[in-house]
Amino acid sequence: MYAGLDFGTSNCSIGTMVENEPTLIPIDGGRTRLSSCLFIEREVIKPFDVARSDLMSRVSTLDSAQNTETLISIARKQMQAEHRNKAISFKQAASIVDALKSNGDVIFGEEAELTHIDDPESGFYVKSPKSFLGADINKDQQVVFTRIVEKMLAHIKQEAESVKNEELNDVVIGRPVNFHGLLGNDGNEQALAIIGEAAQTVGFKHVEFLMEPVAAAYDYERQLTTDKMVLILDLGGGTTDCSVIKLGPSYSHLEDRQNCILSHTGRRIGGIDLDNKLALMQFMPHFGKDAVFKTGLPVPSTLFRQAVSVNDVGAQRDFNLVRTGREIEDYCLRSNDTRLRRLQQLRDGKFGLRVSRSAEQAKIDLSDNTLVDIPMDYIESGFDISVSRDALAESIADELSKFEMLMHEAIQQAGVQPDVLYVTGGTAMSPVVQQWINGVFPGMPIVVGDHFGSVTSGLVTQAARLFK
Ligand SMILES: Nc1ncnc2c1ncn2[C@@H]1O[C@H](COP(=O)(O)OP(=O)(O)OP(=O)(O)O)[C@@H](O)[C@H]1O
Ligand SMILES: [Mg+2]
Repeated sequence: MYAGLDFGTSNCSIGTMVENEPTLIPIDGGRTRLSSCLFIEREVIKPFDVARSDLMSRVSTLDSAQNTETLISIARKQMQAEHRNKAISFKQAASIVDALKSNGDVIFGEEAELTHIDDPESGFYVKSPKSFLGADINKDQQVVFTRIVEKMLAHIKQEAESVKNEELNDVVIGRPVNFHGLLGNDGNEQALAIIGEAAQTVGFKHVEFLMEPVAAAYDYERQLTTDKMVLILDLGGGTTDCSVIKLGPSYSHLEDRQNCILSHTGRRIGGIDLDNKLALMQFMPHFGKDAVFKTGLPVPSTLFRQAVSVNDVGAQRDFNLVRTGREIEDYCLRSNDTRLRRLQQLRDGKFGLRVSRSAEQAKIDLSDNTLVDIPMDYIESGFDISVSRDALAESIADELSKFEMLMHEAIQQAGVQPDVLYVTGGTAMSPVVQQWINGVFPGMPIVVGDHFGSVTSGLVTQAARLFK
């Protein structure tokens, strides 16, 4: 079997062609979208392994209103949880490196996040590994991230194979124009090497990469009956990618599409950066960001910035230093502002990722509401933070203008004016983002694709071209 696999910063999905239609495969308890995170418990247990016959007997006990593929995915998830509950630990892992070496059971997706929230000290949690692959990480960290990517890819592969009851050998994996990180092209090479090596290790025999905006374009092309010059905008979790590309019936049959792709631009900025910014601008003031010392001088803002920069390896390392803890204690003693104790609680309780998740929740809830209240009980009992849609718009104005620049750059590099703007990616779900997109090119038709499925469907389309 061949597949297209979107290894996203926030979400992963995989699909294959079914009756000539790209179709996503359920890989997470019946869902086709797996949150890009994993949790390895300190108490190492054997990985889940189930005989096909046992799996199918479990499927036969489930409510059969759903299709068999979804039921298999649900049954696997149930059985994995049961396995975890009754398995006996064979060792205690001292570090994430040790845990990865032990090759024990790993929890993936939303369940990983919930397990981490429930008890952060009970294991090792990694969120959005993709956002670290292009970063300035040393050799040891590269090895760790390669193992982590292997775990994720192996899990996705296994889930898909079990659902389809077929071996999966050939894959087209999406890649952003630029990975998150400050290393430029070296970072891109590093990230591709990590993903490529991991994919081979877990048993994919043929691995090809395709730019994510081009994949989104191929998905859009399936519905075109006339040729069009299209500006693609993929607003993802970690990266934003643009491409100007010639699409339509005159081109879709061509084996080599290189001449159709007129430009690519991409930046390491996406939904996570909106969360970080919202956390900094709307959450951190409640943690004392604008506090003053008894002398009247302002408390420095660096630590607040570090606290919420959850996808910045350097910032997280610095924030977790022992001396940072002492610095915050010093702030608390030198100021009468009690909000600073919340910053201390954030650091001591390792709640950085939870605050980031709360900010993301606020951003997502603001899609359907103009004002939201986000509970922050894990910081302080009865504490919550109100955020308005206008405050979100104000907080992310810089990021929106960076997205806009990317689109202009893509058009400039292409040297042609697009006929239509095709938008995809989860970040484009936000009405604040949508309103801004509408204002950038007044009069240009905008087509909104499947926010979470376009890239994968395009990767499947490409996989079919290459491997069918
Ligand atoms: N309703 C919403 N409003 C705003 N943002 C949303 C909404 N729903 C999801 N998101 C955001 O969409 C992002 C995930 O989008 P998507 O799944 O397209 O990213 P990805 O493909 O994993 O990332 P990338 O392509 O950058 O690797 C997250 O940042 C999430 O917070
Ligand atoms: Mg994406």
